[in-house]
Amino acid sequence: MVQETRFVAANLIWPIFVIEGTNRREPIHSMPGVERLTVDLAALAAEEAANLGIGAIAIFPVTPQEKKTEDGRHACDSKNLICETTRAIAAKTGNRIGIVCDVALDPYTSHGQDGLLRDGYVVNDETIAVLCEQAVNQAKAGATLIAPSDMMDGRIGAIRDALDESGFQHIGIMSYAAKYASSFYGPFRDAVGSAKNLASGDKKTYQMNPANSEEAIREVELDISEGADIVMVKPGMPYLDIVRRLHDSFPVPVAVYQVSGEYAMLKFASQANALNEQSVVMESMLAFRRAGASAILTYYAKQVGQWLAE
Ligand code: PBG
Repeated sequence: MVQETRFVAANLIWPIFVIEGTNRREPIHSMPGVERLTVDLAALAAEEAANLGIGAIAIFPVTPQEKKTEDGRHACDSKNLICETTRAIAAKTGNRIGIVCDVALDPYTSHGQDGLLRDGYVVNDETIAVLCEQAVNQAKAGATLIAPSDMMDGRIGAIRDALDESGFQHIGIMSYAAKYASSFYGPFRDAVGSAKNLASGDKKTYQMNPANSEEAIREVELDISEGADIVMVKPGMPYLDIVRRLHDSFPVPVAVYQVSGEYAMLKFASQANALNEQSVVMESMLAFRRAGASAILTYYAKQVGQWLAE
C-alpha cells in the first residue's frame, strides 16, 4: 500500500539487433543471451514482446560492411534493414507495440561516427540535413517514435520540421538528450559491428562529458524547446542523479537507457553466481522508476516482461 514506485511491462522498451537474411540468429559474445536476429525473427520477437505488454521495441541494424560509406547514405535507403524490420514488425503486430527507430549515422558510416566527418571532425550542421532525411525515411516505413541518438546540436527542431512537412505530425520524438561519451557502450559497438569502424576514434566532440550535470539541463532545455516529446538519459545506473534532476526540472517524460555495458555487468556477474540475476535486474528497474524514469530501455525487457507475467 505504501510502496512509492512500481513498474509494468508497458514502461519497457526492448532494443534489438537486426541482421540481413532469414531464419538466422547470431550470439553476441560480450552480451550473453542477446542475439542478432534476421528480419523475420525480429518480427516474431516483437510479437512476443507485444503479447507481454512491452511498450515498444527499438531497432538497431547491423549494416554489412560493404554498405557502409564515408557519408552513410544507406541510412536514407527505404530498403535498408531498419526500414524492412519496421515494416515487418508493423505488419505482424499492428499497433500493439511501439516501434522506435534510431536516428544517427554510425550504423552506416565507414568511420563509425554518428555524423559526417570533415578533416577528422564531425560536422554538426551538414550532418543534420542527412539526419532529417533519415528520420523521414524511417517514418515512411512505419516508425511510431523517432529517436535521435546522434547528439548533434539543433537536430530535434530540424527533424521535427522535416517530419511535419512530410505529413508525419503525429510521430513523436524521443531525444537522446543527455547522452554521455561513455565507455559503457562497448558491447553495443560489438553488437552492431561499429567498433572496428570507429577503431581508436571517440565521440567526445558531440556526446557529453561524464563529469557534467548542469550541461544535461542545457541539452534537455534545448531539445524540449525544439519539440522533443520524451528526453532520455544514457547510460542508466551510473547516471540516476541525472534522471532525477531532469524529472524534477522538466514537465516531460524521462526515458533511461540501461546500456549494453550495464547489461554485461549484470549478466556476467549472474553467470558467475555472484549475483541473483532476477533480483538485481528487477531492483534496477525499480531504481530507474524511483529516480523518475517513465520509460526504461533495457536488453532485459523481454525477460522482465516474462518475470512480471509469472
Ligand atoms: C549510437 C548508439 C550507441 C548506443 C545506442 N545508439 C552507441 C554509441 O553512441 O556509440 C549504445 C547503446 C548501448 O550501449 O547499449 N548512435
